[in-house]
Amino acid sequence: MNLEYRRMRPSDVRRIGEMERELFDNPWSPGIFLIEIQNKNVAHPYVLLQGKMIIGYTVVWKIEREIHIGNIAVDKKYQRKGYGAFLMQKIFDTFQDYEVIYLEVRATNKPAISLYEKFGFGTLYRRKHYYPDGEDALVMARYRERKL
Ligand SMILES: CC(C)(COP(=O)(O)OP(=O)(O)OC[C@H]1O[C@@H](n2cnc3c(N)ncnc32)[C@H](O)[C@@H]1OP(=O)(O)O)[C@@H](O)C(=O)NCCC(=O)NCCS
Repeated sequence: MNLEYRRMRPSDVRRIGEMERELFDNPWSPGIFLIEIQNKNVAHPYVLLQGKMIIGYTVVWKIEREIHIGNIAVDKKYQRKGYGAFLMQKIFDTFQDYEVIYLEVRATNKPAISLYEKFGFGTLYRRKHYYPDGEDALVMARYRERKL
């Protein structure tokens, strides 16, 4: 299968920008990914490649013992093959000394919510009209020591 998982590079952001536009209603621009790549103290942007093709990516922020999953995505053609779970597992393998992991997700994004629940996340609360089109966000979390 020839999978590679490595830190995101500036040369990756064009392809990632295309994937964002295909996958999200409010895509991050390539410039945002460039900022994340440079923000080395806090941001941990990673890509998953099959051969030379980027098929998925994550952006994680770690501040002290708090982790925030800012972005996770798998190319449409590669979805439902286990790569989303692979990326989540990589996050847990990489960041073991955390208290809590947070993320936000569109309330109707069933695939993502199901993925997060599989990895032990629960819903903390709902942010009404969080997204520009008015959709609510769920703020989800997984604590290391306690169940939600
Ligand atoms: C969410 C996302 C990353 C999942 O990636 P994926 O590679 O398709 O996920 P996997 O194949 O590893 O599936 C893992 C689990 O996710 C859930 N899942 C994935 N796709 C699903 C779907 N279409 N419907 C319901 N559950 C789904 C399931 O729980 C699945 O476990 P299962 O296969 O045992 O049912 C992918 O759908 C995606 O990139 N979506 C667009 C971007 C996005 O919304 N990102 C999240 C932003 S908060």
